[in-house]
Amino acid sequence: MKLAVIPGDGIGPEVVKQGLKVLNAVAKKYKFEVETQDVLMGGIAIDKTGVPLQDETVKICKESDAVLLGAVGGEKWDKLPGNLRPEAGLLGIRKALGVYANLRPAVVFPQLKSASMLKEEALKDGLDIMIIRELTGGAYFGEKKRVQLEDGTYKAWDTMIYSTAEIERITHMAFGIAKKRINKLTLVDKANVLESSRLWREVVTDIAKQYPEVELNYMYVDNTSMQLIRNPSQFNVILTENTFGDIISDEASMITGSLGMLPSASLGDGNVGLYEPIHGSAPDIAGQDKANPIATIMSVAMMLRYSFNMLDAADDIEKAINKVLDKGYRTGDIAIEGTKVVGCEAMGDLIVGEI
Ligand code: IPM
Ligand code: MG
Repeated sequence: MKLAVIPGDGIGPEVVKQGLKVLNAVAKKYKFEVETQDVLMGGIAIDKTGVPLQDETVKICKESDAVLLGAVGGEKWDKLPGNLRPEAGLLGIRKALGVYANLRPAVVFPQLKSASMLKEEALKDGLDIMIIRELTGGAYFGEKKRVQLEDGTYKAWDTMIYSTAEIERITHMAFGIAKKRINKLTLVDKANVLESSRLWREVVTDIAKQYPEVELNYMYVDNTSMQLIRNPSQFNVILTENTFGDIISDEASMITGSLGMLPSASLGDGNVGLYEPIHGSAPDIAGQDKANPIATIMSVAMMLRYSFNMLDAADDIEKAINKVLDKGYRTGDIAIEGTKVVGCEAMGDLIVGEI
């Protein structure tokens, strides 16, 4: 297994270290070899090379079987122009690898129900949502510009743009995933206002005819953000465009208890998948051994499942996480009274111990 590893900034290196530790434990158990190569991206790449994403990084990632990424960004680089910020590196690598579908599963571990921001009542039916976020189109990639007006003030715009083909490919993937779950798919959009959303609806409705077993419904994104809090278990698979997916996946993470619990897999038609926790670089707690590595460790499980079809090994990791939570161990973000608070490193060791 040839892995490119992008530790990135802030807590990125800490959580990635734990993810690799767990991967190595699984590799030993299932007798496969992992060869890793660290590559620069984000703020650290800006400091060392002047740009957030070098061609060299793209090349190494493309030649790997998969990419594991921590997080990028931080205050230090916030004043740089948009195309030179750490985040531009992240968008750049997603685009370069062609990973247009970002799978963000929001699952409430039964042990963590009380860490959720919602009342236990709202979670009585459990929560197991797969958010499928379009990742290489929309406003994050459309034309953006700022112009100065005669009075010295500015005008700026970002273009939310989608083609039929971009919508089609992710829609087929979403229906395929819905079929493997409970045949339920919700398209989240803003078709009452946005033309791009109206195109999404048309294309998705048309493709739905090829998947008659899947129940498709539509929901506006504002209503969705309300419904996620009111009754989250009504959702199973959510398909949505880039910006909306970015926003509602952060929202969904708080239902699961913490932003530190949501992994993600970014997939395309190529062979190289990109795996990363959905949280950011959390500079406020970086280097203090406080970060929750579970989102990254679960991203490693997703990598085994989606890039390598190693289903047992992926299950093993998830079971190990469950066991550690069962025993009452928690990082600070998910701790409640009566649990044992451990740091990032110790959480990684505990999970390895169960493998
Ligand atoms: C995410 C992050 C990124 C995004 C940022 C850091 C560019 O918020 O992965 O959700 O917007 O995609
Ligand atoms: Mg985000």
